Amino acid sequence: MTTIGFIGAGNIGQAVARLALDHGYDVVLSNSRGPETLTGVVDALGDRAVAGTSEEAAARGEIVVVTIPLKAYRDVPVEPLAGKVVIDTNNYYPQRDGRIVALDDGSTTSAGLLQEHLEGSRVVKAFNHITSAHLIEHARPTGAPDRRALAVAGDDESAKAVVAALIDELGFDVVDVGPLAESWRIEPGTPGYGPRLDADEMREALAAAHR
Ligand SMILES: NC(=O)c1ccc[n+]([C@@H]2O[C@H](COP(=O)([O-])OP(=O)(O)OC[C@H]3O[C@@H](n4cnc5c(N)ncnc54)[C@H](OP(=O)(O)O)[C@@H]3O)[C@@H](O)[C@H]2O)c1
Repeated sequence: MTTIGFIGAGNIGQAVARLALDHGYDVVLSNSRGPETLTGVVDALGDRAVAGTSEEAAARGEIVVVTIPLKAYRDVPVEPLAGKVVIDTNNYYPQRDGRIVALDDGSTTSAGLLQEHLEGSRVVKAFNHITSAHLIEHARPTGAPDRRALAVAGDDESAKAVVAALIDELGFDVVDVGPLAESWRIEPGTPGYGPRLDADEMREALAAAHR
């Protein structure tokens, strides 16, 4: 049984956790205010969902999803995530996160910032361009004719393969954006960010993106 840890238990954290539980995973959810504030959330998710601190979610997860406002990325615990596959759903919204010069000038990407912080982890950007409601509504079994595609980006090919297999299992086709340096192609404001696209349409959207 694989355990998925969650740093962040808001809209996206809860939606990915719901899908993971439906496919037989265990989940450990965490937030900034402490596990006692997540009692209602884990009760609603069922027996295989538990709440912990961020450190516990990071330590217990074999795969760990970081799904918090980008401005908090430096709070993500480093040591327990060393060597692990870390899924980054985060987006940069300056009005929420404050101005980050390295993103405004295009010298890195939001996922690149997390990878820099988690130097020893294998960060894969995923689930950042779909709403939490659509994660639940649009999930389909492999081969369904109306299957939506989700994009992944990452520097470690084996980590990206792990995340691609997970996304496929949870209900979506997968399109590889390339390394994290290319992940701006699926950041807010790009053609692939938001709409329901199949794999061919997603590839076209990624190619059409302008920085
Ligand atoms: N909403 C969407 O449709 C959507 C879609 C794709 C991607 N995203 C991106 O994914 C990320 C999460 O989005 P969301 O909508 O799920 O956000 P959200 O509903 O606001 O939830 C954010 C979660 O992060 C936790 N958190 C905040 N600071 C933290 C810290 N320092 N350490 C640990 N946990 C912390 C919050 O816990 P507390 O409440 O205890 O602070 C909360 O559980 C964002 O970067 C967002 O831009 C959102």
